[in-house]
Amino acid sequence: MDKIVIDKKRCIGCGKCVRDCVASALYLKNGKATLRSGCIECGHCYAICPTGAVDMPDYDTSGCAQTVPMSDIDSEVFLQAIKSRRTIRQFKPQPVEPEKIRKILEAGRYAPTASNGQKVGFTILDTRRGEIEKLCVNLFRKGVDIGSKFIRSWRHTEITDSFFFKDAPLVIVVSGSDSVNPSLASAYMELMANSLGLGVLYSGFFCACTILNPKVKKMLHLPRGHKAVSCMIIGYPAVEYKRIPPRKEKKVRRV
Ligand SMILES: Cc1cc2nc3c(=O)[nH]c(=O)nc-3n(C[C@H](O)[C@H](O)[C@H](O)COP(=O)(O)O)c2cc1C
Repeated sequence: MDKIVIDKKRCIGCGKCVRDCVASALYLKNGKATLRSGCIECGHCYAICPTGAVDMPDYDTSGCAQTVPMSDIDSEVFLQAIKSRRTIRQFKPQPVEPEKIRKILEAGRYAPTASNGQKVGFTILDTRRGEIEKLCVNLFRKGVDIGSKFIRSWRHTEITDSFFFKDAPLVIVVSGSDSVNPSLASAYMELMANSLGLGVLYSGFFCACTILNPKVKKMLHLPRGHKAVSCMIIGYPAVEYKRIPPRKEKKVRRV
């Protein structure tokens, strides 16, 4: 079965899909859009077709019928919301509702991926979470003991039993064979989590553990060839921020 199926009766031959196809996988034949090789399944043809003549039979298209342009969101409110986002390190024990988890994952699924590869992995830490955190804590306790002799900022660092996951109700590891695609997915997921009243901490320390101790990585059962790019600690914030902290001036260069 072709990745893209054109209903020739519905196709009006406008060529919008042909012009918008990044892979030049469509052309007009006898006034009808026609598929050749090279399709990356990005769905631009499906999205742009004015008559709904394009189908993607391998995909579930329920919920795809309506778009909400980002430009509908007030840009000032959006920017202020982005600036108001804070890393959260204190969480309420309240669990995250399954519907909210679904929306967070859905936001990650819809982040752009290079060549529409869609190979980002999402792993929720569940039954083995305690075991995994313990392994990381033991690893870091040893590391901080040695490191604090040389690194000043580590001198007051205490590696508590919940150092990595902060007793938060939800931990999602986002993985991939590269770093860019999972990072983009994570950013989308964080903003979605924020819009649902949830806070997020990226645990770079946890990702470091997956490199320092291969056993930690193995316990995650990541898809083949994947590395843990981000570890998102998610839950309802137990803190409230009243102000936006200042940031360094940005240095924008023009060349
Ligand atoms: C890739 C990445 C890894 C991070 N790892 C950790 C971490 O392991 N532990 C931690 O407490 N904060 C971690 N952070 C949070 C940063 O310290 C935080 O973003 C920074 O202090 C700025 O605060 P803000 O996010 O509230 O603007 C990480 C952030 C990023 C983007």
